[in-house]
Amino acid sequence: MDKENPRDLVLACLPDAKLLISAPGRVNLIGEHVDYNMGVVLPVTVDRRLWVAARPVEESILHIQALDLGEEVRIDLNDLDGRVDVQGKPLPLWSFYPAAVAWIFHSKGFPVHGLRACVASNLPMRAGLSSSAAIEVAFALAFQTMAGITMERMQLAQLCQAAESSYIGVHCGLMDQFAVSHGVARHALYFDTRSLAWQPIPLPPDAVLVVADSGKKRELATSAYNRRRQECQQAVEILKEQDPAIQSLRDVDLDTYKKYQNLLPEVVAKRALHVVQEIERVQRSAIFLAKDDAQSFGRIMFEGHRSLRDLYEVSCEELDFLVDTAAGIPGCLGARLTGAGFGGCTVNLVQRSFAEQFCVGLAKDYRDRFSVELKTYICQADRGAYVETIEKAAG
Ligand code: GLA
Repeated sequence: MDKENPRDLVLACLPDAKLLISAPGRVNLIGEHVDYNMGVVLPVTVDRRLWVAARPVEESILHIQALDLGEEVRIDLNDLDGRVDVQGKPLPLWSFYPAAVAWIFHSKGFPVHGLRACVASNLPMRAGLSSSAAIEVAFALAFQTMAGITMERMQLAQLCQAAESSYIGVHCGLMDQFAVSHGVARHALYFDTRSLAWQPIPLPPDAVLVVADSGKKRELATSAYNRRRQECQQAVEILKEQDPAIQSLRDVDLDTYKKYQNLLPEVVAKRALHVVQEIERVQRSAIFLAKDDAQSFGRIMFEGHRSLRDLYEVSCEELDFLVDTAAGIPGCLGARLTGAGFGGCTVNLVQRSFAEQFCVGLAKDYRDRFSVELKTYICQADRGAYVETIEKAAG
């Protein structure tokens, strides 16, 4: 047994587990801040994963151990609204996610079993790789499987999104929960958040994804994220008065935007322009990906970053430095911040044969500039979340 392997760790922690669930993190290649505007996105699930071993218990309690953090929590399933543990202490942040999922299951009328669970992962937490969606989807699968509920993966993803919005207060789109629950090895996922249609597109075989974790914590990200969402909504309200067919920024093309842009307050106009162009970038880049044209795809990633920096204003000094530096390192085809921004990670598309030296070069320049050890991960596109049922021999 490998002491460092999270799968082994959770099984050792709970030898009588009945279920083993694995959920991946995701990086988004392009299509940032468009999912809550009904746009199209292009995420990839990566081989950095979270593992949950679980078994049902008689009491209405969620008893969860987070092995990476050395913390444990007991939550009364009959007092989820209190957001406290069984002793009345405030819940630790990570445990809000399983609590949120239990809460949404309850509120939608699905039965929720008490359970004992152990969690471990090799997925960087709170770094913009969707660790929160991974926890949500993993526990949703645990509750679903234990209660024998039949549910499509898309519905499960939507429940997790609703949990995050209603219980945690991040009014996120559906991209992360969709990706975590639908990921396909070696493929990116072209996902239309309006029609919910999706399609896997093979990743270029000669390129790899390098994730670089700036280490910059995403402070005040929730309020800034929700504010961006409101600004987009404000744009829709104004544009709708001109053309009632406009129900979301997805319904606005560049010509329409230009026609009405003077009606929008300055900041709102910048946000809307990002969204309109970013949706178009996803459509363009998906065609390049399907043609295995990694060079052109990479150029669009750089464009996307500039837009997030200048128009959507969700980048920061560290992420800009990483993207600018990456651009000058041999083998780099494209780079941009990934996820909500305000800190967290960049994603880089790098020619396979240059990957190792790319990581070394980027880390060196980052250290010289910020005196911080950059964490880099060469990632493979990995399968989405799955459940293993553990059958123990009787006796
Ligand atoms: C977060 C949200 C997603 C999406 C991205 C930005 O990851 O959870 O729904 O909005 O930010 O693209």
